[in-house]
Parts: sequence; structure tokens; C-alpha cells
Amino acid sequence: MSPNTQPKTAIVTGAAQGIGKAIAIQLANDGFSVVISDIAAKQSLMDDVAAEIKTKNVDARTLVVPADVSSASDVNNLVAKTKETFGGLDVMVANAGVCWSKSILDVTVEEWEKLFAINVRGVLLCYQAAARLMIEQKRGGRIIGASSIAGKKGSAMIGAYSASKFAIRSLTQTAACEWGVHGITVNAYAPGTIDTPMLREAAGAVITPSGASIIDQFKAATPLGRVGEPEEIANFVSMLASEKSSYMTGQTITIDGGIWFD
Ligand SMILES: NC(=O)c1ccc[n+]([C@@H]2O[C@H](COP(=O)([O-])OP(=O)(O)OC[C@H]3O[C@@H](n4cnc5c(N)ncnc54)[C@H](O)[C@@H]3O)[C@@H](O)[C@H]2O)c1
Repeated sequence: MSPNTQPKTAIVTGAAQGIGKAIAIQLANDGFSVVISDIAAKQSLMDDVAAEIKTKNVDARTLVVPADVSSASDVNNLVAKTKETFGGLDVMVANAGVCWSKSILDVTVEEWEKLFAINVRGVLLCYQAAARLMIEQKRGGRIIGASSIAGKKGSAMIGAYSASKFAIRSLTQTAACEWGVHGITVNAYAPGTIDTPMLREAAGAVITPSGASIIDQFKAATPLGRVGEPEEIANFVSMLASEKSSYMTGQTITIDGGIWFD
């Protein structure tokens, strides 16, 4: 990225709540113009995130664009609106994702397809749309995806989710290989158990074959002995989005309190 083009612009998908919200707030603190995106049903939560950013810094530049990441036309519209409003794009954070828990013995084709449409096709579409604009701009860029520790090791009851998060690592590596020549770096974060609505609503309900809740199992396996906070992921994304990560690409970095060692 050119160091002299300020302010820079970042898109964050799945930014109405949880990790995406924390990333949007952090990138705004870092001086980015931030595009807050999520599904249309979360319009008021997205507006709240924009208002929270403005409360901290009245001069902060934000834009709210509803987009379903599994839809190519929504994602293309998201990037087009960003260009129209802020003149370009420097950072894409493809954070949106869903997690449903079910044994791979029982998962239906429809459930599998829907999860992959959001978690994998959604990230591909965000990576593609961002890269096309960044290549046209000729000033490099940062593309960042959301994997998971479930993308490093399979776990009972979240097989479809785990497979989708493994796919993000592969996509991130390939994108890094193909777009490095344009000065675009592509990396992903792999959170462990982070205290968000996803964790509370979905994973919190999972009972493993041993009878333990998956959250308690993760806590017990975590050297730091606790669940992480969304801001702890946002701090890392802040670094990934900055000049400080200029020689890093194709990586999926685990942030999980020490559960998984690469
Ligand atoms: N919380 C964790 O413990 C954890 C761990 C590992 C990885 N992750 C990953 O981090 C990312 C954020 O997770 P979170 O915990 O903040 O989840 P969350 O459910 O709290 O927030 C995810 C957001 O994505 C949005 N979203 C869902 N489908 C969408 C779609 N089709 N288009 C656009 N937006 C959509 C949701 O509306 C929601 O606002 C996800 O990709 C998740 O898989 C989370």
C-alpha cells in the first residue's frame, strides 16, 4: 500500500455485532473510513455501530451498506458504493460467517450448502470484488478473512463449519499467491472461543459426545483459562491492516489463548 494515501478505506462484513463490530470500531480508531456491512435485517445494529464510532470521533467517516455476502450482486454493490463514497478501497475484512452445530452424520445437503454459501462463497466474493478494485487502483491493499481454530483442527458437532473454515485457509493462500504481484497481501485470523452472539447462541448449545459443553471444553483446554474478547481479535486485524504487516501474506494466524499451536 502507498504510505501517503490518507485517509484509507476499509470494508468490514458481518459488522453489526461481535468480532466484526469490534474490528469496525478499531479500524475507525486507526483513522480508516469504515464501511459497516451486514445483512439488511441488521440495519439498526449497523446504524448503532456507525453512531458509536461517531460518538468517539465526530469526524470519523462511516458508511452503512447492507449486503448478503453470499450474493455476488450484493458484494459488487458493496464495493461499488465504497468506491463511489470514499474514492477507493484499501482493506477488505471478509468477517461475516455463520456456525450451526450438528453431527456430520445428520447434516443435510441444504444445511451444508447454505453454510458454505455464506462462509466460503461469501469470502470468495469479498476477496474477488476487493482484489478487482485494488488491482485497478494500482496501490496494493490488504485483504483479510475470518477462519477459526475449527479451520486448524476438526471438532465434533461442527463438521460443516470446520470444513468451511479450512477452506478459508486454502483460499487465503491461493489469493496471496495470485495477488502478491499487485502489492496485495491476503491473510486470515483464526479465533478460538470469543465472547460474541455466535458463541453464545450457537456453540454454547453444543454438547460434545463426552457431555461437556464445547465452551467449557475450550476453556479447560486454554492455557489462558478464559474466553477471548472481540477486541482481542480486532487488535490483531488492526495490525494486519497496517503497514506493520507489509511482508506477511498467505497466513492464517491463530488467536485463541493457546489452545492450538501451529
Ligand atoms: N466467536 C467465536 O468464537 C469465533 C471463533 C472462530 C471464528 N469466528 C468467526 O469470526 C467471524 C465473526 O464471528 P462472530 O463470533 O462475531 O459472529 P456473530 O454471529 O456474532 O456475527 C457474525 C455477523 O455476520 C453476519 N452475517 C451472517 N450471515 C451473513 C451474510 N450472509 N451476509 C452478511 N453478513 C452475514 C451476522 O448477521 C452477524 O452480524 C465469523 O466468520 C466466525 O465464523 C468466530
